[in-house]
Amino acid sequence: MLNEKHILIGITGGIAAYKTAELTRELVKKGASVKVIMTKNATEFITPLTLQTLSRHPVYMDMYSLSGDFSISHISLAQEADLVVIAPATANVIGKIAVGIADDLLTTSVMATRAPVLICPSMNTQMYENPIVQGNLEKLAAQGYLIVDPSHGELACGVEGPGRLPDVSEIVDVVETILTPKDLTGEHVLVTAGPTQEAFDPVRFITNHSSGKMGYAVAVMARRRGADVTLISGPTTLAAPRGVRCVSVKSAREMRDAVMEHLEKATVVIKAAAVADYRPASRSDSKIKKSEGTLNMSLERNPDIIAEIGKNKGQRVLIGFAMETDNLFENAAEKLTRKNMDLIIANDLNQEGAGFQTDTNVITMLDPNGGKETLPLMDKMDVADRILDRVKKIIEKRKR
Ligand code: CTP
Repeated sequence: MLNEKHILIGITGGIAAYKTAELTRELVKKGASVKVIMTKNATEFITPLTLQTLSRHPVYMDMYSLSGDFSISHISLAQEADLVVIAPATANVIGKIAVGIADDLLTTSVMATRAPVLICPSMNTQMYENPIVQGNLEKLAAQGYLIVDPSHGELACGVEGPGRLPDVSEIVDVVETILTPKDLTGEHVLVTAGPTQEAFDPVRFITNHSSGKMGYAVAVMARRRGADVTLISGPTTLAAPRGVRCVSVKSAREMRDAVMEHLEKATVVIKAAAVADYRPASRSDSKIKKSEGTLNMSLERNPDIIAEIGKNKGQRVLIGFAMETDNLFENAAEKLTRKNMDLIIANDLNQEGAGFQTDTNVITMLDPNGGKETLPLMDKMDVADRILDRVKKIIEKRKR
């Protein structure tokens, strides 16, 4: 996702510097070209060799080194960067940037760059809450610097409060968001995800194996591309994505009500949820005790949410999923027409790497004109991006 992006990471002297090694690794794994500048104090916490090995580039520390590599200067590092990330950013470096001091390679590079600069403050709580530091951060934010708020928790100094460098995954998400073109700005995307649970007594329910990963990936990518996103999710173990309006539901009927409540302003609806088609006809208020012999349960139909939207969808783009074990394309094409969708994402449960629980998927997108686009095995985030490319095309076609 970060292919061909040049990211310049600045590490300053804070205990969280060790986390920047992991951040570097993750960004390189995602295809970015990462170069690292370390301040002198940063080298007290983590070695340049670690960062050099992980970034696969020399680590830059000194403005006046006689390395012989004349092409590298604070200006060239600043100019080639698509993004500068300072993590951890100490109170000292924040103060220096805020008042325009450029007395080392990192601060001169920040001064010289035209790329966005992301500052990840990390320090002791009292220092972070100091009005001078807060004032400097406000000043930088007003100048267009991007700031990731530190997370709360127990700090290395034993104090509990704000000041921790956020999890690497959160910083990576912010980086990917900054570097993703905002081509869905103005769209309101409503996504459903996960399974539903259909209870038949206070402790038991019927459900399915859906993990929610596909729907969450769609929600995250839509938000990164600039859309306003509402995610209505059945029970999953996934963390609520940053910057997305999240609504938790359990049963299909709760999901239906939540969808209808948020439908009006939605311009795009993507129904990735594995909604239970049936629920127990009755729900006992007390736990059902076992007895000899079999237990019979009758099931009744749940509302078909996407079909209900399809009947009255207006200008909305409506996208559904079909997960099948047999006759994939015939079944998917039939659902596409019957439920009045604009696109259906078909996946074959028998295929390796596709379907529930996995981080990857293999999909074919079918459209109402008979078009069929099959994608190879891909990470669910990339699949989500390709689905949103189709959404964008449908929107553009409607505008013409
Ligand atoms: N769906 C829904 N409400 C339901 C059942 C399904 O909104 N009660 C949506 C799913 O979110 C998915 C699409 O419909 O986007 C296809 O779901 P699926 O269960 O595969 O389709 P069905 O029409 O229920 O077909 P069948 O169960 O016969 O395979």
